[in-house]
Amino acid sequence: MFSHFRVSIAIAVILTLLFTIPVFAGGWAVITLDELPTGVVAGQPITVGFTVLQHGRTPMSGIFPTVTANLNKETEFVVNAESDGEPGHYVATLTFPKEGEWRWSIQAFTMDQTMPMLSVAAPVAASAEQPAVNAEPSAESILWLMIVRMAAVAGGLVGVTLAFRNRIRLGAALTVLCLVVGIASFMTGSTIPAVEAQGEMASKSSGEFSVSQVELGRRLFVAKGCITCHRNSKVENSSEYWTIDMGAANLSRFSASPEALRLRLKNPSSVKSDAEMPTLGLSEGEIEALIAFINSK
Ligand code: HEC
Repeated sequence: MFSHFRVSIAIAVILTLLFTIPVFAGGWAVITLDELPTGVVAGQPITVGFTVLQHGRTPMSGIFPTVTANLNKETEFVVNAESDGEPGHYVATLTFPKEGEWRWSIQAFTMDQTMPMLSVAAPVAASAEQPAVNAEPSAESILWLMIVRMAAVAGGLVGVTLAFRNRIRLGAALTVLCLVVGIASFMTGSTIPAVEAQGEMASKSSGEFSVSQVELGRRLFVAKGCITCHRNSKVENSSEYWTIDMGAANLSRFSASPEALRLRLKNPSSVKSDAEMPTLGLSEGEIEALIAFINSK
């Protein structure tokens, strides 16, 4: 017979193992956002996609990531991400209910990764829903305007001719009528440029914003998951991130030639055959922004 003491020790050991094994077995993963969302408007759904690589290597399928967003820690929502069939790739549809600077993060596996703040613009309902007056004049209406003007000129000529043939009253009446029609046609014509200008203003007020290359790179360093392997104090709130100690360089004071960085970021194993750094599928624009950020002071 086991003593109670031995049994409780055994249970304690088993429980400890049960709670710690997932941490050892699970470890960490790199979350890489497909691209930074831009032009986000309140009330309009956007789709975000991201890849989860266990230990920065193996695409993780069969997990259930979530996306959490909050505005000033008050309005909060959580959305489940779903696999789109590609191994380790997930998509989530987000609808931000209000405009403002939203904080958001992705929870996948053991990770909870804060993404760069997201500017959400107010809906442009007022200018987008203006009635048809705002529409550009159709080719048809321009044609009609030309016909009316030509008729007015012709009528005016007939009127003048009649006046010369001593049918003064009829001639004068016709000339005045044609003058009035002609002037009226020019007045409606002159409102066209004003309508066009209004249309231009409406399209400019959509939620686009532009940021510098360095700032874009700063955001990408987080969104692409570089921060999971490389420390970098130039990242905003860098201490908030869980950076794995896997031997990758601290890039806080690092700089290198753009050519060397371009090769490394495009395909890490072209620089080091047994590279531990993953190929993250960065676009050329993203690579240039990351280079600008890495080499910034
Ligand atoms: C899974 C971890 C991991 C991720 C994610 C990662 N790296 Fe690396 N990185 C490494 C390792 C490890 C090295 C050292 C070379 C090697 O083994 O590939 C390295 C090397 C580098 C170097 C060269 C450093 C030197 O000392 O010459 C730069 C620059 C760099 N990474 C930038 C980035 C950027 C930018 C990203 C995000 C787009 C990124 N890394 C993502 C692990 C990672």
